[in-house]
Amino acid sequence: MAAYEYETHEYDVVVVGAGGAGLRATLGMAEQGLRTACVTKVFPTRSHTVAAQGGIAASLSNMGPDNWQWHMYDTVKGSDWLGDTDAMEYLTREAPKAVYELEHYGVPFSRTEEGKIYQRPFGGHTTEFGEGPPVQRTCAAADRTGHAILHTLYGQSLKNNAEFYIEYFAIDLIMSDDGQCQGVVCWKLDDGTMHVFNAKMVVLATGGYGRAYFSATSAHTCTGDGGGMVARAGLALQDMEFVQFHPTGIYGSGCLITEGARGEGGYLTNSEGERFMERYAPNYKDLAPRDYVSRSMTMEIREGRGVGSGADHIHLNLSHLPPEALAERLPGISESAKIFAGVDVTKEPIPVLPTVHYNMGGIPTNYWGEVINPTDDDPNAIVPGLMAAGEAGCASVHGANRLGSNSLIDLVVFGRAASIRAGKVVDKDAPNPVLNQASVDAAFDRFDNLRNAKGGIPTADLRLEMQKTMQSDAAVFRASESLAQGVDKMTAIAAKIDDLEVTDRSLVWNSDLMETLELTNLMPNALATIVGAEARKESRGAHAHEDYSTRDDENWRVHTISRVDGNKVELSHRAVGVEPLTTEDEGGISLKTIAPKARTF
Ligand code: FUM
Repeated sequence: MAAYEYETHEYDVVVVGAGGAGLRATLGMAEQGLRTACVTKVFPTRSHTVAAQGGIAASLSNMGPDNWQWHMYDTVKGSDWLGDTDAMEYLTREAPKAVYELEHYGVPFSRTEEGKIYQRPFGGHTTEFGEGPPVQRTCAAADRTGHAILHTLYGQSLKNNAEFYIEYFAIDLIMSDDGQCQGVVCWKLDDGTMHVFNAKMVVLATGGYGRAYFSATSAHTCTGDGGGMVARAGLALQDMEFVQFHPTGIYGSGCLITEGARGEGGYLTNSEGERFMERYAPNYKDLAPRDYVSRSMTMEIREGRGVGSGADHIHLNLSHLPPEALAERLPGISESAKIFAGVDVTKEPIPVLPTVHYNMGGIPTNYWGEVINPTDDDPNAIVPGLMAAGEAGCASVHGANRLGSNSLIDLVVFGRAASIRAGKVVDKDAPNPVLNQASVDAAFDRFDNLRNAKGGIPTADLRLEMQKTMQSDAAVFRASESLAQGVDKMTAIAAKIDDLEVTDRSLVWNSDLMETLELTNLMPNALATIVGAEARKESRGAHAHEDYSTRDDENWRVHTISRVDGNKVELSHRAVGVEPLTTEDEGGISLKTIAPKARTF
């Protein structure tokens, strides 16, 4: 057994991760007087939410008619009928409240002439239950909305006495023998000390796992740490096969160019200068949802109409927009285009390509953020002491495809919901749990084994093998042959985790070891993704299967549940929630309105 000295910290709640969901949960917990710690591997305002550009969806009706029922309909349709109805109702109903709270906390939203929060159009957001024109629903702080939200929530959390443990890496969850989460074991990166956090409630807000792929808009820190810890604890992951490609990553670097660029009037063209989205989505054109636009771009390239010397990408045109509008509404992407593509957006198009952007799947939760570990007896069984929120979680509101700007609202609505629920279930006066020492020791043993790993494969090499395989075999379009080949390759790649070579054995700022721990988190996420994709014999949302090109509601309107053990994945299914929170008589949406139908734009 590895002998590490450690310091123990006791809190009512420990939130792991300081992005939008983590900070909103932290703030909500602290406001209620719960003793709250936020543990984060990066400085809070460097969390990946800082990169969220275009905005946050809520039916404020500042720019024209809108209501939560239209937002809910769009979210249901966007999800390709795989989202859970209660969670989608909760999200869209609570969204305006959550945005006004942000405004009152101090988020510097862009303003209309009348001083209201400015809202822009985004893909898949419509009026009249998909029958009317696009709606301006996405509340924006220029094209730096995530940045504005993070800074505000961090300041408010400090004001409410939340305590931050910054640059602490979470190694593993502490689980009791009867399945209760009791805390988390951490490594402090800057001085090499070890820390055990004992908590009545742990909230995983660790973000997505975009870095399982070779080209992603996600930060290098997006390594699915929550999903990795959950998988090692023997708990479930859900709907991992649904990976979103954002249509406009900058060709080459993968940096995000916000969908807000098309919201403000930008459009895509092929090598013939044609606005090809008019053929694929006659009504909503460039403002169709992301899965639609990414597939259309890929088809153009496949059919030889890509731009550039390799005919392998697409142009995003903004130069027709007034320079003052670009400077006011899209200053950040104007700068990114210059730096990463060498393009002056007032004169030239930006070269773009669909790039991995978001994971719809994650740790299954109910709409209060409580983690679900389905059993044969109870598909909605809750893991006591454990919550998840944000991209790490799967509530599930995005189903098979997320609408742009529904991510920031997911972060704040469900971060807030987790704190509301914790306020009810966490007893401030109760003693903290007596920790399961075997679980603490197991975390240190795993850490020590990796620290002293003397195998034959450097971490960076194995990570690259995984990223390249995921990029080629679980892509925008998928097919039986490449998926089967991808599963075989990923099974072999995951087995090599036991043969890693770590060269730096120190404990202070050991990035070799940290990246190795991150790789052990990416791997189960990646494996569950490709195994789930191979098993799903239909096309739905972001899962476009060339051998099963239509949606099959009879057999496949189900969540995929995966349990990962080493390089093996066991799959099962869980029913999609079809019951709304309120009936039509109570002011809710009509079930007929949201019944499954063909998804056209
Ligand atoms: O395009 C964007 O600004 C990204 C927004 C989102 O993913 O919601």
